[in-house]
Amino acid sequence: MTATKGLEGIVATTSSISSIVDGVLTYRGYDIDELAEHATFEETAYLLWFGSLPTVPELEALKRDLSAFAQIPEQVIEQMKLYPKDANTMAALRSAVSSLALYDEAADDMSREANEIKAVKLQAQLPTIVAALSRIRKGLEPVAPKEGVSIAENFLYMLWGKEPDSVSVKALDTALVLHADHELNASTFAGRVTVATLSDIYSGVTSAIGALKGPLHGGANEAVMKMLEEIGSLEAVEPFIRKKLDNREKIMGFGHRVYKNGDPRAKHLMKMSLELGTMKNDTTLYDMSVNIEQLITGQKGLRPNVDFYSASVYTQLGIERELFTPIFAISRTSGWTAHILEQYTDNRIIRPRAEYTGMVEQKYVPVDER
Ligand code: ACO
Repeated sequence: MTATKGLEGIVATTSSISSIVDGVLTYRGYDIDELAEHATFEETAYLLWFGSLPTVPELEALKRDLSAFAQIPEQVIEQMKLYPKDANTMAALRSAVSSLALYDEAADDMSREANEIKAVKLQAQLPTIVAALSRIRKGLEPVAPKEGVSIAENFLYMLWGKEPDSVSVKALDTALVLHADHELNASTFAGRVTVATLSDIYSGVTSAIGALKGPLHGGANEAVMKMLEEIGSLEAVEPFIRKKLDNREKIMGFGHRVYKNGDPRAKHLMKMSLELGTMKNDTTLYDMSVNIEQLITGQKGLRPNVDFYSASVYTQLGIERELFTPIFAISRTSGWTAHILEQYTDNRIIRPRAEYTGMVEQKYVPVDER
C-alpha cells in the first residue's frame, strides 16, 4: 500500500454533477462561462439538484419554496445572539447550521423526497443565517427574509436592512453561480464522506462548512482581502510580493490542484472587479490585484483561482471581509446538497486505507516501569 499525499490524481467516485476536463468547468454539461453569463443562481441550483435547467413553472415553484423556507427557527437566532461577537464567522455559521437539524423533525428522514426538501431548505436558510450573524455582531437586530425575491437580493436586503441596488444584486448572483459547484473539491468530499455513513444531510453540510473554512480552500478569499489591506496601495504591491516570494510564502488566491493553466471562474470575477471599480471611480483594488497577478504569474507561473478577484468584488459591493467565506458557503450549499443527494442514491461507505509508517513490535511496559 502506497499513499498519495493529498490524494492527488485519485479518482474517488463517479459523479454526474460537475466536471473539469482540460481546464473547462461544466455543471451538468453546461459550460460555466455560459451559465455565468445567462443563468441565475436559482436556475443553477435547480440544475445541480435535478439534472436539467428548470422550465418556467419549475423555476417559479422553486422560488416559492426558497421564499417559504427562508425563515430560520427563533431558537437558532437566540443561540446566535449568545455567540461571542468576535467569533470566526465560519465557526459561527458551522454551529448555526448544525443547530438547524435540532429544529427539523424530518432531519433523520432518509427518504429521497425528504432529503430534496431539506436541500432546498438549507439553501434558503444559509443566507438568512449569514446576514443575521453579520447584523448581530454589529449590535443590530436580524432582518426577516423578504418574499418573492432572489437569493442574492434577499441576502443583501437582510444584510443591509434596505433594498439593494440592481448592480449589486446582479454581481452577487453571478458570483453565486460561479461558486455553486466544483467537482470533488475538499468540502464536497468531506460532505460526501459524512453522509456515506448514512448520516443526515445537516451533518454532511456541517462537515462541508468545516472543510471550506480553511485558507487552502474557501477561506482563501478572506485571506486575499487581508493581504490587500496589509499592502494598502498600488506602490506597495511589488516590494510586498517580492518579500513574500523570497521567503517562499504562499500567496493566497493563487494555484490550484486541478487547474494548472488558470481557473475558468477567475476571469469573470476579474471583469466584475474592474466594472465595479470603474463604476465607483476607484479601481485601486482591481489595479493592485492585477499587479499582484502579473508578479506571481511572471515569477512562479501560478494563476489566480476563484478566490483571488472575489475578494475585491465583495469589498467593492460593500460587504465586510468576514462574510466572504460564508458567502462562498451560501453558494456551495447547492453543490454540496446535490452531491449528498447523489451519494445517497448509490451509497457505499467511504473508507480508504492508510499506509502505516509508525513503530512496530512494541511490547507493553507497565506505567510505573516506564
Ligand atoms: N503561492 C506560492 N506558491 C504556491 C502557491 C501559492 N498560492 N500555490 C502553490 N504553490 C507552490 C507550492 O509552494 C509548491 O511549490 P514546491 O513544489 O516548490 O514546494 C507547488 O506550488 C505546488 O503546490 P501545492 O501546495 O503542493 O499544490 P496543491 O495542489 O497541494 O495545493 C492549493 C493547491 C492548496 C490551492 C495551493 O495552490 C495553495 O495553497 N494556494 C493558496 C491558497 C488558495 O488560494 N486556496 C484556494 C484554492 S481554490 C478553492 O479552494 C476554492
